[in-house]
Amino acid sequence: MKICAIILSAGKSKRFNSEKPKFIHSISGKQLIDFNLEALEKNKNINQINIISSKVNSKFIQNKNKSIFIQNPINGTGGAIKQFFSSNKNFDYYLVILADTPIFDYKIINNFLSKGIKSKIDISVISQKVKDPSGYGRVILKNNNLLKIVEDADCNLDEKNINLVNTGIFLISKKAIKNVSGLKKNKINKEFYITDLIDISHKQNLKLNTYINDKSPILGVNNFKELNNLEKASQELIKSELISSGVKILQPDTVYIETDVQISKDVIIEPNVVIKKGVKIMTGTIVKSFSYLENCYIGKNCSIGPFARLRPEAILQNEVKLGNFVEIKKSKLADKVKVNHLSYLGDSTVGKNTNIGAGTITCNYDGKNKYQSKIGNNCFVGTNSSIIAPVNIGENSYIAAGSVITKNVPKNYFSISRSKQKNIKNFKK
Ligand code: UD1
Ligand code: MG
Repeated sequence: MKICAIILSAGKSKRFNSEKPKFIHSISGKQLIDFNLEALEKNKNINQINIISSKVNSKFIQNKNKSIFIQNPINGTGGAIKQFFSSNKNFDYYLVILADTPIFDYKIINNFLSKGIKSKIDISVISQKVKDPSGYGRVILKNNNLLKIVEDADCNLDEKNINLVNTGIFLISKKAIKNVSGLKKNKINKEFYITDLIDISHKQNLKLNTYINDKSPILGVNNFKELNNLEKASQELIKSELISSGVKILQPDTVYIETDVQISKDVIIEPNVVIKKGVKIMTGTIVKSFSYLENCYIGKNCSIGPFARLRPEAILQNEVKLGNFVEIKKSKLADKVKVNHLSYLGDSTVGKNTNIGAGTITCNYDGKNKYQSKIGNNCFVGTNSSIIAPVNIGENSYIAAGSVITKNVPKNYFSISRSKQKNIKNFKK
């Protein structure tokens, strides 16, 4: 059984007011097209994944490592399939999905594919009931059997009221796909519609079916408003899954969490926190309000924020405490490190139990290159110290407040580097 999957992304995004095609815009940190590519990649029965693109759009998908088929001319979803099929005839099934209609739950595709093949259906379609069907193709049933799909602009008054819509996900057999040759251009916008295949195939008594998706919504994005609505839906899904898995989120409506994060149970997230992709937080940790985390690791029982910023490659082991206005970038903080106020640690390592005083800054950049700071275990770095990298501060050492550290500090040493205070008597203003 040879199955090929096709993602349609050659459209001109005319209703989407952007310089870039709509499918590379993101929701919850993931490009629309990537939801579908990832869903397809997870299905082991698919032999080949193709992206159908226009020449203009193709520069946005070069990094996807997929075979790209250039559609020319851009003559509709039916035109895309017609062109692709003319040079790709040797598959048993063609799974078609749209780049602008992301699938959040990859299992929907697995079930759809196996049911369609098992029941030897010639064309199966995933449909869905929606509150507002405008813009979508309406799925017309007769005695519960799939009859045809009518596009929004072509609907009569009765059809306009139908709220069962086409998600654009089709599984088409080798026999049925040959009907692309019978597609006629739509009278209104002069494009070929993939949805017309249903009507043609019905007239030939081919086996048709529609599966109604009642899991996570599969909604199309044709403009920024729809992009926002879909992001809202994806946020609700992400947070409700976390909450069911034992994460406590206070005021979830104010919290933004992207896809591809891992948050263990018994983590507490306070209001107004942003957690971007690649973040991993272990059990017992609390993330306090207004903290902003990206691509970082936070161990068990840590306390983060309020107002902390964790940038990519910040690694915090267990029981680390970060307070307000602390920024950590590409740094590893061992167990029980405390950085409680107003500090920046970048390109650094900090040993366990070390206390970093308020206002400490690692000066890691000279305008050209970045340098490392290494601070050992059990150190005390006094308030308002500047650590001029590259520099090593040995374990158990003590840096006096206000120091500018430019040279290595051996272990167990006290280091002070401050300008001397002069008190001048009889000073007159
Ligand atoms: C399409 C469906 C509609 C469905 C809705 C779901 C058709 C005719 N209509 O409508 O039934 O309810 O999606 O979101 O299929 N594309 C190409 N080549 C083209 C034209 C479009 O690859 O020549 C791609 C677009 O880049 C897009 C997808 O196909 O990713 C859908 O095209 P779009 O114009 O957005 O169709 P809709 O009007 O949303
Ligand atoms: Mg669309």
